[in-house]
Amino acid sequence: MERARITVFDTTLRDGEQSPGCSMNVPEKLRMAHQLDRLGVDVIEAGFPIASDGDFQAVQAIAAAIRRPIICGLARACELDIRRAWDALKGAARPRIHVFLATSDIHLKYKLRISREQCLEQARENVRLAKSLCNDVEFSPEDATRTDREFLVQVVQAVVDAGATTVNIPDTVGYTMPAEFGEIIQMLRERVRGIENVVISVHCHNDLGLAVANTMAALAVGARQAECTINGIGERAGNASLEEIVMAMRVRPDRYAYDTAVASEQLYPSSQMLSEVTGVPVQPNKAIIGRNAFAHEAGIHQDGVLKNPLTYEIMTPQSVGVPDSRLVLGKHSGRHALSLRCEQLGYQFERRELDEVYRKFVVLADQIKNVEDHHLLQLIREVRHEAPRIPPAHVEIPGAIAAAAGKGYPIPAPMERHPLEMTLHSAHDHHGEQEDYLWGV
Ligand code: KIV
Ligand code: ZN
Repeated sequence: MERARITVFDTTLRDGEQSPGCSMNVPEKLRMAHQLDRLGVDVIEAGFPIASDGDFQAVQAIAAAIRRPIICGLARACELDIRRAWDALKGAARPRIHVFLATSDIHLKYKLRISREQCLEQARENVRLAKSLCNDVEFSPEDATRTDREFLVQVVQAVVDAGATTVNIPDTVGYTMPAEFGEIIQMLRERVRGIENVVISVHCHNDLGLAVANTMAALAVGARQAECTINGIGERAGNASLEEIVMAMRVRPDRYAYDTAVASEQLYPSSQMLSEVTGVPVQPNKAIIGRNAFAHEAGIHQDGVLKNPLTYEIMTPQSVGVPDSRLVLGKHSGRHALSLRCEQLGYQFERRELDEVYRKFVVLADQIKNVEDHHLLQLIREVRHEAPRIPPAHVEIPGAIAAAAGKGYPIPAPMERHPLEMTLHSAHDHHGEQEDYLWGV
């Protein structure tokens, strides 16, 4: 089957940077831009040059240093912004000016205080100006999804006629629904003359948690550029998450027969770098790159994954750059997973001894959320009546655990007074057939 190529437009350094706590200085932006290049994005929106001297310098530095992807700078639809953007971008191998102007009546009336006619003229004139400086011009009718449909068609027609090469339809306030957004894109494709010669792009915000769904709906009806950010950062609830869009296409080519140039194994390193640079952590259950995205706690799940990861994993951790899946030991874990983790720590038990470790483990897991390796080691020592020691030197700590330590999975330091000391001695050692049955799961 013919697979359409989707342009991945990364706006982590512009819209993403607009999220609270995510601002980056010039060296930080440059470092992230190199990583985005390694990741294989097609366009890096490096900043909004008129916004500050720092942003100007960042765009200029990225334009000079990163030569493969298109480097884009944002500008309002006015001469000062556009010329400033061009000054920052002109050293780029592949520069793009991104001009935007709000088109919804709410924005025209309360924010810009201009009429629809003035808006139309301003869009047309400023796309022409940008085009006189740079061949690659993107235009965005801000708040497009709350814009009157007839007027949206007129604005898009005007900018296509004025020479825009990409028309981006933003769901600025995250208001649209997937089917509705698809209809808007479809309508523009049917009604704007010459739109087949420009790239239709989408830019979705996540206020209703629908940014990725809306993006996918638009791609399904012919949009060919997706604007997105690493970790989904961006204004308010954020932008569509790059990693989710890319992996939706990878995992479901039967529904989304599209290709991107993204090297998916760079997704997790990119996410980690962004968290490190901004100091903003990723929520644990974030799809694709959250620390729980490949973690399995329930015994039934652990048992399945150990037998065959396909049972509960729809992509491999390695495919997104996470070194290995991680079995989280908690109160729902089964004996199979516990025994494996013990083996990984260098301890093998015969059945009766494992039973004892498991009973104590269950008591502990009932009291603390995750049983970490250092908890388990102490527990094993208690069962074996061993003095505290370092695990056997020949034992290899498995990749996932090493990765957890080295790549940002939090492994809490041992507590001053170990919870085992408080809990294990109260464990009653009796267990019956019913418990034995449950251990299998
Ligand atoms: O959300 C938005 O409308 C924007 C535009 C500048 C594209 O970020
Ligand atoms: Zn935005």
